Amino acid sequence: MKELNIELKNNPYKIIVENGLLDNVGKYISDVYKGNKIFIITDDIVEKLYLKKVINSLGGYNVDYVVIPHGEESKTLKYYVYVCEELLKKDVRRNNLLIALGGGVIGDLTGFVAASLYRGIPYIGIPTSLLSQMDSSIGGKTAIDFYNRKNILGAFKQPLRVLIDPLTLNTLDDREFNNGMGELIKHGAIGNKKLLDLLLDKPKINEDIIVESLSVKKKVVELDEFDTGERMSLNFGHTFGHIIEMKYGYKHGEAVAIGMLMALKMGIDLGVTPADCYPTIKKILELYNLPTVEYDYKEYLKETFYDKKNIAGTINFIFLSELGKYTIYKLTEEEIKEKL
Ligand code: GLY
Repeated sequence: MKELNIELKNNPYKIIVENGLLDNVGKYISDVYKGNKIFIITDDIVEKLYLKKVINSLGGYNVDYVVIPHGEESKTLKYYVYVCEELLKKDVRRNNLLIALGGGVIGDLTGFVAASLYRGIPYIGIPTSLLSQMDSSIGGKTAIDFYNRKNILGAFKQPLRVLIDPLTLNTLDDREFNNGMGELIKHGAIGNKKLLDLLLDKPKINEDIIVESLSVKKKVVELDEFDTGERMSLNFGHTFGHIIEMKYGYKHGEAVAIGMLMALKMGIDLGVTPADCYPTIKKILELYNLPTVEYDYKEYLKETFYDKKNIAGTINFIFLSELGKYTIYKLTEEEIKEKL
């Protein structure tokens, strides 16, 4: 069993990582939840795989659940309303506990319900996809999509605890597993050279690797809980990645892989990133079958200025200053024209 403490002043919490943890959920929540009623929110795929197991592990609690269809279409107002209505029908109270059992959609939606229903209900995340274990389940960003925009209605709401069972990765198909690897590799690139060295040997993704990766996100979230500064380092590969994801329909982690290579090229051209960072990251991406197709970053620079992270005509690009270290580099459209 491995533990990481997210040390936030008002909302500190633990991430527990353990093989087979889904059989022991009750044991791992009893010190933070003293009530009796628990509502699990999950989707129709995770329901079949793990719901029974988790309910069985919660002996002694009064457990009920709400199931929604899997997929991004459920991260909408329609299913936000559905989940709230189902919970209210089942007489949810503000001191009950919600458990988000599933991938990023379940985590983001349940977190937003937990942030807003009764102005806040405690919730615990049990992320079951590698992508959600690596990213969205940590750091308290909750949201639904609305008005054709991703994550536009949301709130910061830190979970009471995050429980990760690496054995859930065994039921992911290869493409979904590699999708999560995109974010895991990103953590190595911006904050943990040791993790990159380990990945070069293509290890099995176990408790240790997950904790090495999450220790990077932990530091960043502790520095910047509400995403006003350092947290933007997590966007390494995302500025170009989002454009590529929207345009060509890659999965998120795949687009981040391509976006990291584009950011590396740009950083090298600007003299910020040492040239040898590129082949190392590319090799690791290849080991995990992530796309390494070359897209010319210069062709996409204009579009970066339409990004929601564009603040007053300046883009904060995230580059590597060495393997395992990032730097935030501000550029205006005019500066880009001058320098590149
Ligand atoms: N997904 C980026 C963040 O949590 O800030």
